[in-house]
Amino acid sequence: MNVLFVASECIPFVKTGGLADVIGSLPQEVKSQQQDADIRVMLPYYDEIASEWQEKMEEVACFHVPVGWRNQHTVIFQLVHREIVYYFVANDYYFSRKGIYGYYDDGERFVYFAHAVVDALAHLDFAPEIIHAHDWQAGLVPALSKIILPEKNIRTVFTIHNIKYQGLIPPDMFDDFFQLSREHFGGLEWRGMINCMKSGIFHADKITTVSPSYAKEIIDPHFGEGLDPILRERENDVTGIINGVDLSEFNPQTDPFVPVPFTYSKLKKKENKLLLQERLRLPEAPDIPMYILVSRLVEQKGLPLLQHIIGEFVQENIQLVILGTGDPEFEWCFQEWARRFPEKVSAQMTFDEALARHMYAGADFLLMPSQFEPCGLSQLIAFQYKTVPIVRETGGLKDTVQPYNEMTCEGNGFSFTHYNAHDFLHVLRYSLQIYHDDVHWAQLYKNVTKTQFSWKDSAAVYTALYQSLENKVYS
Ligand code: GLC
Repeated sequence: MNVLFVASECIPFVKTGGLADVIGSLPQEVKSQQQDADIRVMLPYYDEIASEWQEKMEEVACFHVPVGWRNQHTVIFQLVHREIVYYFVANDYYFSRKGIYGYYDDGERFVYFAHAVVDALAHLDFAPEIIHAHDWQAGLVPALSKIILPEKNIRTVFTIHNIKYQGLIPPDMFDDFFQLSREHFGGLEWRGMINCMKSGIFHADKITTVSPSYAKEIIDPHFGEGLDPILRERENDVTGIINGVDLSEFNPQTDPFVPVPFTYSKLKKKENKLLLQERLRLPEAPDIPMYILVSRLVEQKGLPLLQHIIGEFVQENIQLVILGTGDPEFEWCFQEWARRFPEKVSAQMTFDEALARHMYAGADFLLMPSQFEPCGLSQLIAFQYKTVPIVRETGGLKDTVQPYNEMTCEGNGFSFTHYNAHDFLHVLRYSLQIYHDDVHWAQLYKNVTKTQFSWKDSAAVYTALYQSLENKVYS
């Protein structure tokens, strides 16, 4: 089985969000389960990639990609990391820039990327049977592989990590830039624009998304971001497969950022909490329940709910630590609360992986009141560090967190259903009540320590999906 993953980010090379974690872990896990499979990954070559990686790359192909008003000079570099071959598509004009996304011509950049990925297959000693493309940046790959290389009969899987970002391009670019015949326009277009996400959903043989609940949600207009009609047409080919977490990476016993390593011990969590309080200049009191939020500070993450009730919540005997960067509106708001309640709120408006790991290790609760959440990684990390997640029941949060039930003593966290600030506050207060109830808190803690989402099961589901495609003949 030969599979090529195509995506715009991947740890350890380049990361802005959870997509990079998935592309960093899933190919490795599929490979470890199918030793005879040849799994490779293709990414853009960004300047941002650390020089220690750049130095290890070797050039394996050089060609021109026919897009736009001139052919784009393209070089493919290769690097082997943990038994997997990674290819990097290099083009100075589109990718030799600061940062990763956020340019006015992002649409054009990733049209070029998708085109280069497909053209590269004529120049590499690798013939994928399956291409697994991820999110809008790779959304045109399923279409282009069928249009440009029909004789290769490559099967395609397209994974939606977040349907909100679709990659929209003005329709007049089709004639100027794509260099494809007009008959292909309809498959790429949606409501007047060229839409990379739509194209992926429309052309791929199978579509997956990163949790079963999100798969159900996005066929509904409320969550579908305008693409629900297309998804409903493809409903039988859409599956939701929950992401896992890299167990070797997120392990409180071996994590170098956890000051006091631990496995199940509550006591050591408290020692980590004490050191965290010292680090953040909060009162050093290990019995005060500590709530953390580790997130990009954007609306999707449900921050307006926290903004609305933080004033009431800080009346309780708690500590709240917020870590992340994002919309200035949220950053200012949380900084202001930290200024007003320095003994209760700490607002760390930065991206600091080491601090994040210490927070997971020392805290009691993780907050994720997301408006929507295709899968979510923080709650999975929280389970690894024995921190109780408090989430809104949406997408992957709904599939991984079961609210604690005092009658049955089951459940591994807390949750609320409606996107409503006072429902959130209510569940926060309830979590405090359970925290102070020794019997229930011990039971909940035990349930949390037993929860784990490894890549093993999910990778097996992807492998079965690839195999089902291998055996199928498409016209
Ligand atoms: C996106 C989603 C997030 C998911 C991640 C990886 O960032 O917003 O929920 O965990 O992709 O699939």
